[in-house]
Amino acid sequence: MDGDIRAHSMLDFIKSRRSTRRFKEKIVPEEILHQVIEAGRYAPSGGNSQSTHFIVIQKKQVLDKLADLAREEFAKMEIQENTYKSLVNSINASKKGNYVFHYNCPVLIITANKKDYGNNIADCACALENMMLMANALDLGSVWINQLRWLNENPVILNVMKELGLEEDERVYGALALGYPDTQDGLPVRTPLDRTGNIVTYI
Ligand SMILES: Cc1cc2nc3c(=O)[nH]c(=O)nc-3n(C[C@H](O)[C@H](O)[C@H](O)COP(=O)(O)O)c2cc1C
Repeated sequence: MDGDIRAHSMLDFIKSRRSTRRFKEKIVPEEILHQVIEAGRYAPSGGNSQSTHFIVIQKKQVLDKLADLAREEFAKMEIQENTYKSLVNSINASKKGNYVFHYNCPVLIITANKKDYGNNIADCACALENMMLMANALDLGSVWINQLRWLNENPVILNVMKELGLEEDERVYGALALGYPDTQDGLPVRTPLDRTGNIVTYI
């Protein structure tokens, strides 16, 4: 393919990645899931440290337990004047008792990294974006899930995460809800969102 055409298609493809928050129960076949995870594993990392740890949860029982525990822990939190807007939503929804932070996705890919490593969030973000783009290429829906990061030092959640394979020196810096979108045609919504921010200064 001509370089110009390739660049244009790439940009269109990047613009077509949108978040999915309603999923079908349908499982994601192993070979498809593997491609998404490989996209994450092939993300760049600071100093090529490759220290992102991917914890892939497909067991419904485990996903339900995580949602229940997160809801219980959020419900205990008090909202302060400067509490981050999305966290306020999570706390309020949890206090009402109907909150499932991972939208009942069939697969949750948690990205953890070394807690004392300066690029921990940045490396996880690169892996997550790679996986979101790969998911889109495979007609899967995905969305970044931040709640486990907010509960990073919460003793209940930390304990469960350690049971699920998190190492002592690791913490969660993001996660990806993944699955087949619950849309009429079964495909992800791909209409780009207008850019109203993200200013650019050219010198
Ligand atoms: C760092 C980061 C954290 C996010 N956390 C969440 C989250 O916890 N739950 C959620 O539903 N969406 C989350 N999102 C998705 C954003 O809300 C979404 O990307 C944004 O509204 C733009 O919509 P789009 O992804 O469809 O383009 C997050 C996105 C980023 C980049």
